[in-house]
Amino acid sequence: MTTTDLIKKLFLSFNAKDNDTFVQAAREYIEHEKRKKHTVVAKDLEKALFSTNSEHNGGGKRFKNTLPIPRDTEKGFPLLEIQHFDKSIDALIIANEIKEQLEHVIREFKDADILATYNLQNKRKILLCGRPGTGKTFSAQIISSVLNLPLVYIRFDAIISSYLGETASNLRKVFDYIESGTWVVLFDEFDVIGKNRDDNHEHGEIKRVVNSFLQMLDNLKSDSIILAATNHQNMLDPAIWRRFDDVIYYELPDESIRKQLFDIYLKPIKKDANIDMAKAANLTDGFSPADIKMVTEEAMKAAIISSKNHIGQNEIDCAIQKFIRREKVRNNLMGDK
Ligand SMILES: Nc1ncnc2c1ncn2[C@@H]1O[C@H](COP(=O)(O)OP(=O)(O)O)[C@@H](O)[C@H]1O
Ligand SMILES: [Mg+2]
Repeated sequence: MTTTDLIKKLFLSFNAKDNDTFVQAAREYIEHEKRKKHTVVAKDLEKALFSTNSEHNGGGKRFKNTLPIPRDTEKGFPLLEIQHFDKSIDALIIANEIKEQLEHVIREFKDADILATYNLQNKRKILLCGRPGTGKTFSAQIISSVLNLPLVYIRFDAIISSYLGETASNLRKVFDYIESGTWVVLFDEFDVIGKNRDDNHEHGEIKRVVNSFLQMLDNLKSDSIILAATNHQNMLDPAIWRRFDDVIYYELPDESIRKQLFDIYLKPIKKDANIDMAKAANLTDGFSPADIKMVTEEAMKAAIISSKNHIGQNEIDCAIQKFIRREKVRNNLMGDK
């Protein structure tokens, strides 16, 4: 290994918070210096690597970021999850404006240092709004993949404790954790906040939670990208919108995007020659990308089970009709929206 390789290994293991690989790479580097007969340097580095009582490493904690995952005090369940993804932005089929907004966030993060020299800050607090299944959570996974940062995933309902007062302390723990590293953070289903508006008791508690959340967000000292996703943007007042550097609004896909979704999701299977994706796109007005994904999976399964190795228009049409019937039942049960 060259010196550059060794240093790269050190950097990568540092970024991955991989203590063992870091130490191994450091040892290799020391050996490397020894081979070059730089005995004094090697000794010095060895001392630096293995000193346990120095003021530098906080009592043996090598990386700042070894905080345990915060847990709910009462029930003990984890308040967040660290996730890793490997997704490309090409997987997101969406209106160009939205893609550009996301690409902007990514670009600005990458160029944060340059922006800082002009006293400008990259966009780092982003609100993602829109109907379920339009790609909000998916976008967070993509940003995390593209920036090569872990995704800290926080479900808001996990934070809201049935014990009064616990909630704010749960939030505090989550924010302390966020401050201990650089991540893409997703506060998902932020709209849980609006769910039981009729319940006055809960309403009061939830209002308090939103306020502490926004306050902590304001005071957050972090380079991390903080995303908050909601399905009920109408319920969030303008005061909330102003706390974010950008708001991305996810619309239901138009016909041409629906066609692209059918194309991409039916890619894995062979198709009859006369198959008409434009027709499928036309029949699926009001479908979200997640709905279309589900329909295409149904259609593929139907084709595979009937022992065909290719899919025809019939399977697609059936899956669409089945989905529409299912939605009707669901809407009736929910007393129509
Ligand atoms: N715009 C999109 N392009 C491609 N696939 C999508 C898109 N939106 C959603 N999907 C698919 O549907 C799944 C669920 O979407 P998700 O991001 O969880 O929706 P949301 O968080 O907006 O409710 C995703 O994992 C992805 O497979
Ligand atoms: Mg989601």
